[in-house]
Amino acid sequence: MNPIRLAVIGNPVAHSRSPQIHARFAAASGHAVGYTRIESPLDGFVATVRAFADGGARGCNVTVPFKGEAFTACARLSERARLAQAVNTIAFDADGWFGDNTDGAGLVRDIEANAGVPLRGKRVLVLGAGGAAAGALDPLLAARPAALVVANRTPAKAQQMIERFAANAAQLDVPLSATALETPGADFDVLVNATAASLQAAVPPLPAGTLRAGALALDMMYGAAALPFLRWARAQGAVARDGLGMLVEQASEAYWIWLGVRPDTAQVLAALRLEVDAQVAAAEKAGGAS
Ligand code: ATR
Repeated sequence: MNPIRLAVIGNPVAHSRSPQIHARFAAASGHAVGYTRIESPLDGFVATVRAFADGGARGCNVTVPFKGEAFTACARLSERARLAQAVNTIAFDADGWFGDNTDGAGLVRDIEANAGVPLRGKRVLVLGAGGAAAGALDPLLAARPAALVVANRTPAKAQQMIERFAANAAQLDVPLSATALETPGADFDVLVNATAASLQAAVPPLPAGTLRAGALALDMMYGAAALPFLRWARAQGAVARDGLGMLVEQASEAYWIWLGVRPDTAQVLAALRLEVDAQVAAAEKAGGAS
């Protein structure tokens, strides 16, 4: 039997752990799946996807820097992808490419199911106003927090972004607002760092009192890049969490879109955690020795 063909398309893409994750899902589900990495030329994303689709593939994941281009290239979109203006999962259906965004659903599932923090009634603060933050907002609103605040280095960008989500927020009766990083408000129960600050080893300049004691503080990054944020979060008295669980959960949601099965994530996350922790420890040891 020919395997079901899937891939992650990005540039760069060599670092992607999606092939490993989906191989584990396929083994657990009993599916014959071939999931590969495809590095697309920066000016040839749509042609790369088309060639893959025309070769009989079922769908693909999309990663940096193509999530916005994937959004414009799809014939049909899920509501959450339309609002995010970013697509991370495409299904090659008979009636055209269907674009979805599973990142926010993965985030919410990681927070609620894996970290054990129900979002309903909680005060939630999201940092950032790029594609990563936009992908999180619709699923976060759907979880019915008491308030959702988006803080960004450039507050006008956060304001512009939340306007797309205002109707949903009003319908769900969730207060949604935008602000600067320096003035987010106090006593948040959950903080989600969706900025690119961790790539520069920078931590958010949030004032003392932003988080209540024991709050959950999650960075969408994982591995060595997340370490400064995780240390900062612990110093604030928060429970620190990286983005590895979100990564596995968004993959499970994508698998469901392509194959109609939602794989269990616990064992995959545990295995990946061991690997990533070992890599971080090795990198720290190498860094310390130099
Ligand atoms: P992505 O698609 O991954 O979200 P992006 O669209 O480039 O990437 O957005 C990056 C986000 O990280 C933005 O919100 C950016 O803030 P600005 O809108 O002010 O540019 C934020 N960001 C990047 N570096 C940062 C830093 N050192 N401190 C705080 N925020 C930062």
